[in-house]
Amino acid sequence: MGGIVELNHVIVKHYLAVLRNKDTLPACFGEALDRLGMFLAIELTRGLGAEDISVETPLALTSGKRITGKLAVVPILRAGLALVQPFRELLPEVVILHLGMYRDEQSATPVSYYNKLEMAPDIESAIVVDPMLATGGSAIAAIKALQANGIEKISLGCVIAAPEGVARLQQEFPEVAITTCSIDERLDENHYILPGLGDAGDRYFGTV
Ligand code: PRP
Ligand code: URA
Repeated sequence: MGGIVELNHVIVKHYLAVLRNKDTLPACFGEALDRLGMFLAIELTRGLGAEDISVETPLALTSGKRITGKLAVVPILRAGLALVQPFRELLPEVVILHLGMYRDEQSATPVSYYNKLEMAPDIESAIVVDPMLATGGSAIAAIKALQANGIEKISLGCVIAAPEGVARLQQEFPEVAITTCSIDERLDENHYILPGLGDAGDRYFGTV
């Protein structure tokens, strides 16, 4: 467990460039995030619990798998919402647990405003999703909230990660695996990711 996977696929690189482009409008930005979300969802569900089953084809009896793991996807509001739909397409039974958090502009520390994690008591594993891992403060707060609710098997999916956030997360939770489309260069003096894409929530929801 633990470690970091940076997706290496030409389609991922294509949609990352669409996201990074300052002239991309919210509709195209949302489409690109959705497509990257599908790549993340496929990678992040690779180890999902499954049982062995027998399947009868028209020609022979063979073996197969049936997914059994009770999984929650945990978007960090607002921008994390953009990464939920691909999981629902792959796994219609997936439970969605929302965590509301925003970064305080001055301190860049997360402020929590919504948490209903206790509504899903029998979850086996959780995948936290948020397009941006910058200082790591929001992801760390989300992981702590999940652990406080008894969820221990946790992984994180993001589109762009800053090395600073990755290092902080790995230091605090070495067991949490991170999957990202890109590890960028660094944070700037305002704690934004360089080269990054700007403010993911504002660009996705058209609030700039
Ligand atoms: C952004 C992003 C993450 C957080 C990352 O959210 O979506 O949640 O910042 O930064 P961190 O790693 O330094 O904590 P933002 O506060 O802009 O809220 P929003 O999604 O509502 O726009
Ligand atoms: N949140 C964002 O949306 N973008 C950044 O670069 C950092 C935090």
